Amino acid sequence: MVSKPFALLTALIFTLGSLSTSFAFPNLQAPNGNLLRRQEAEDSTASQAGGGRPIQAVDPPPPPGPLSFTGTKLVNDRDHPWRPLRSGDQRGPCPGLNTLASHGYLPRDGVATPTQLINAIQEGFNFDNAAAIGATYLGHILNGNLVTDLLSIGGKTPKTGPPPPAPAHAGGLNVHGTFEGDAGLTRADEFFGDNHSFNQTLFDKFVDFSNRFGGGFYNLTVAGELRYSRIQDSIATNPQFSFKNVRYLTAYGETVFPVNLFVDGRQTERKLSMDHAASFFRDMRFPPDFHRAAQPSSGAGVEQVIAAYPWLPGANADGKLNNYVVDPTSANFTDPCSLYRFVLGSVQELYPRPTGILRRNLIKNLHYWYTGAFGPAGCPEQFPYGQL
Ligand code: HEM
Ligand SMILES: *[C@@H]1O[C@H](CO)[C@@H](O)[C@H](O)[C@H]1NC(C)=O
Ligand SMILES: *[C@@H]1O[C@H](CO)[C@@H](O)[C@H](O)[C@H]1NC(C)=O
Ligand SMILES: *[C@@H]1O[C@H](CO)[C@@H](O)[C@H](O)[C@H]1NC(C)=O
Ligand SMILES: *[C@@H]1O[C@H](CO)[C@@H](O)[C@H](O)[C@H]1NC(C)=O
Repeated sequence: MVSKPFALLTALIFTLGSLSTSFAFPNLQAPNGNLLRRQEAEDSTASQAGGGRPIQAVDPPPPPGPLSFTGTKLVNDRDHPWRPLRSGDQRGPCPGLNTLASHGYLPRDGVATPTQLINAIQEGFNFDNAAAIGATYLGHILNGNLVTDLLSIGGKTPKTGPPPPAPAHAGGLNVHGTFEGDAGLTRADEFFGDNHSFNQTLFDKFVDFSNRFGGGFYNLTVAGELRYSRIQDSIATNPQFSFKNVRYLTAYGETVFPVNLFVDGRQTERKLSMDHAASFFRDMRFPPDFHRAAQPSSGAGVEQVIAAYPWLPGANADGKLNNYVVDPTSANFTDPCSLYRFVLGSVQELYPRPTGILRRNLIKNLHYWYTGAFGPAGCPEQFPYGQL
């Protein structure tokens, strides 16, 4: 259907045609009807002003465009010193965003608007504009506060303002089963207790795989091996393992970001040293003298990771280990619009009957997201809440 490069909301950019038919999927089995689990809001703490920013209803502006200068440059600079966390600062499962917050490219409290997020990931990492819009609005629509236009990159906090009516939660990127999911590279599955913090055991595995398959560096070969192995770990140890829809797609993109974005832009070989990996994943810190990528980048190479071990979306059925069942209704790489449709469905479950500013802002955010990520892929735009 679509054969030119498109921006998937997962921040993957690759050629659809090369992915659609060329793989044999060894794990194709019977259908299964598991639904995405969703964690509901766990508290309703009263709102308070945070980070010096007023918390108020906002008319969300359109997303920023691309950078004007798109080359490499020093980003660990004097204007953006790393600082340790203060009490209340939010950090979460994304090492890229954590690092930007700890250097002040994002507000240091980890609560930001979509505009701030897009500007920061472009400026600090040279993330390309289409992918920046795709990833940011996906996170914001699922986990942000759409009235105040604020998203926590970690847990739920009153700094994003009064929460929306349940089942919506505005719980931040830590919320399991929306964007955050299982089989992370350095984050454990929620089943094991902490779904978003750096996990040393898993980082040891990252290092081990980099030694075995990358000569001591993390490269695309390591990414393919580690992605597959982390899926197999979860199948064998997490009875609640779920790997479908948003998570299925983002899980692949995340494996190439370290190669494309954590490697210094002055370096020609696309391989990440273990020192630098620890700096980002564990310490939320740019390495000394770090220069961002040499050109706008996001998901390049992901097709290589997928091709190493083609794998279909699914879950461990019936809460049983080693019981992975493919879900043919899941969004997948073959049809980019399937992800758009899935997320629109999730949004309508979160916000069944929005009114007033909430409805207006849902309409605007969905449109911004569509424009950046799915319009270019040729998906028909949908208007579940009407048009303004
Ligand atoms: C606003 C844009 C972004 C959002 C909303 C976002 C969100 C997330 C979330 C929710 C996860 C956790 C997924 C999971 O493993 O369960 C994640 C993981 C990850 N993100 Fe981001 N991200 C964004 C941009 C970036 C950027 C710019 C980079 C790199 C420069 C990046 C690198 C990564 C990596 C490497 C992981 C995998 C972590 C691991 O599995 O150990 N992300 N991101
Ligand atoms: C780290 O991950 C491992 C493997 O998934 C898990 O067994 C362990 O409980 C996790 N540790 C912490 C502190 O979450
Ligand atoms: C996963 O993240 C959510 C959101 O911050 C948190 O409330 C929850 O406790 C985490 N899950 C576990 C099992 O740690
Ligand atoms: C990754 O590194 C290993 C070891 O040097 C090498 O054999 C492999 O070809 C590299 N992969 C890529 C994609 O460069
Ligand atoms: C991918 O999704 C599309 C649309 O939902 C579906 O028709 C197709 O069968 C799926 N492909 C696989 C391999 O499951």
